[in-house]
Amino acid sequence: MSDHTQVKMTTMNYDKDRPKAENPVKIEDLTFRDGHQSLFATRGRTEDMIPVAEMMDEVGFWAMETWGGATFDTMHRFLNEDPWERIRTLKRYVKKTPFSMLLRAQNLVGYRNYADDLARAFVERTAENGMDIFRTFDALNDYRNFETVVPVIKECGKHFQGCICYTMTEPRLGGEVYNLDYYVNKAKDLEAMGADSICVKDMAGLIAPYDAYAIIKALKETVKAPIHLHSHFTSGMSPMSHLKAIEAGVDIIDTCMTPYAYRTSHAAIEPLVMTLLGTNRDTGFDIRLMAQINEILERDVMPKYMHLLDSSKASIVDINVLLHQTPGGMLSNLVNQLREMDALDKIGEVYKELPRVRKELGQIPLVTPTSQIVGIQTVNNVLFDDENERYKMITAQVKDLCYGLYGKTAIPIDSEVQKKALKGYPRGEEPITCRPAEVLEPELEKAKEEIGDLAVDMDDTVLYAIYPVTGKKFLKWKYGKEEVPDEVKPKTLEQAKAEQELVRKALAGKLVEKGGKEAPEKGESLRTFNVFVDDEYFEIGVEEVGGTPLVSYVQQMQAQMPAQAAAAPIAMPAAPAAPKPAEKPAPKPAAAPAPKAADVDGTPLAAPMPGMIVKYEKKVGDAVNEGETIVVLEAMKMENALPSPASGTVKAINFDSGDSVAKGDVLCVVG
Ligand code: CO
Repeated sequence: MSDHTQVKMTTMNYDKDRPKAENPVKIEDLTFRDGHQSLFATRGRTEDMIPVAEMMDEVGFWAMETWGGATFDTMHRFLNEDPWERIRTLKRYVKKTPFSMLLRAQNLVGYRNYADDLARAFVERTAENGMDIFRTFDALNDYRNFETVVPVIKECGKHFQGCICYTMTEPRLGGEVYNLDYYVNKAKDLEAMGADSICVKDMAGLIAPYDAYAIIKALKETVKAPIHLHSHFTSGMSPMSHLKAIEAGVDIIDTCMTPYAYRTSHAAIEPLVMTLLGTNRDTGFDIRLMAQINEILERDVMPKYMHLLDSSKASIVDINVLLHQTPGGMLSNLVNQLREMDALDKIGEVYKELPRVRKELGQIPLVTPTSQIVGIQTVNNVLFDDENERYKMITAQVKDLCYGLYGKTAIPIDSEVQKKALKGYPRGEEPITCRPAEVLEPELEKAKEEIGDLAVDMDDTVLYAIYPVTGKKFLKWKYGKEEVPDEVKPKTLEQAKAEQELVRKALAGKLVEKGGKEAPEKGESLRTFNVFVDDEYFEIGVEEVGGTPLVSYVQQMQAQMPAQAAAAPIAMPAAPAAPKPAEKPAPKPAAAPAPKAADVDGTPLAAPMPGMIVKYEKKVGDAVNEGETIVVLEAMKMENALPSPASGTVKAINFDSGDSVAKGDVLCVVG
């Protein structure tokens, strides 16, 4: 045992007033951001954080992560919550503990590099709304992408935490690119930029305990700023890595409250508190207080989220991460995408193609958004390439990466892939070498003009600028210009329980039509639930009458699932033999069938994958050449420019920007 962690006390107790350790390990709690992002598809609602917020403030965390990453996207898109409001609301309950956010540097909280004016406005508004610590990372570890946001963070008097994304190409630390020197040099760069603390960000849980020891020790010897370790549990190694990092002198560790811990999330805090109890690195936390918080979470909050937990596996450790070194979120995205395209049998090929694509794209770290970029391109290659041609369908983001729009890759991009990707690329076929945002036109004024009166303040404008399609939709809900759809509304604990009961009954085949009785009128309190059973999708209307849920109707929906649901399907326990409750007389379809090509002559362009229409590049009547981009489809957050299948005139356009489409839907017809 290292002398850093010797037990100093002879009598140990849990009491909060136990003697303070010489050098307590500081803890950042991730429950309200990375915790629910990792386990519950970022669906955590502010109202479900409030019941424990004040108690969490009493624990003594160094910081609480409350924002950033996918929260901004998910909140306005799926939860009908204003992301800015979450910071302000939680601040009313959490008065002592600083708030931390995850900032994707020039990517802000989106998936591409934004122009400098928007980046500055975003950081200013975030600081103004109450954010304290800006954990900043760049997916390529290209710190030129920090140059715009860092001075604004500093001007606002806030804490700049610089991240080094941990990634590797070998089974353990080492190799030609991501070796110990790489991390030490990155830390020096961050210190030179004025980092108030430095975080090793291990998003896939890849850092092995002895490598964590080596890196933390080397960083402590090299730089003065406090060192922070963020290591996901995914591979199962993180509790051991935490302990070795603590022995090497790490200053801050990231954990979650138990109900939000483990699997692809983070290790729980409680075992660490007990592990360090009575040592010179004792956290000083009150384990009883944490038990109380967990009790409230388990009783009042978790029932609303359990259906989102991937319960298809008994194991909480993902062995694939150890084998393929890819982040957990990325793997589940790949699996979801393949499943939607009926190609789950290709997962083996995807695993094989992935390291090849990654290397061809410059051996980049795999973290949002690069994990999606590499992942989706890999899936595209596996599904659409043939023996004569690779990279047949290149996503817009891969083209941007090849152009240099994300920054400098760890090794040069394969020149053939780069040339192919940049053929006809609108910014030019010659890649750039400067700081990416230097080639970006200011975009804030344009966004202001586009959104007009729908944006009431700068927060609205910034939201729209980062998420034009879904942001606009959200602002319409926010200001009562469009009805808020049921699926984005919150549900109460009672509703969650009633829904679970229904699911249980449906699986047991106990949902049957009432014989001989006339159905009662649908009342005002009728709520509809979408229930997914394997590939089938039912809409269930539920009305509470005298406290007992009454099934008003069960209706089998078209096999197509909306892209939103597809991004995080309501997980149903696998029950292959479950009777299908809706094998009853055919009800009328609730949704209009997707437009088909039948009534228009010409060559149809069918959606190669489910997704959301970003925009059409052409209108009806426009001339178009074969291969020219006709529509941009967003799938798994990547934009795919779909080429026209023929030369001619656009005869029909069947959807609008913002519409969700299923695989095979005819997007337009060219004749
Ligand atoms: Co994380």
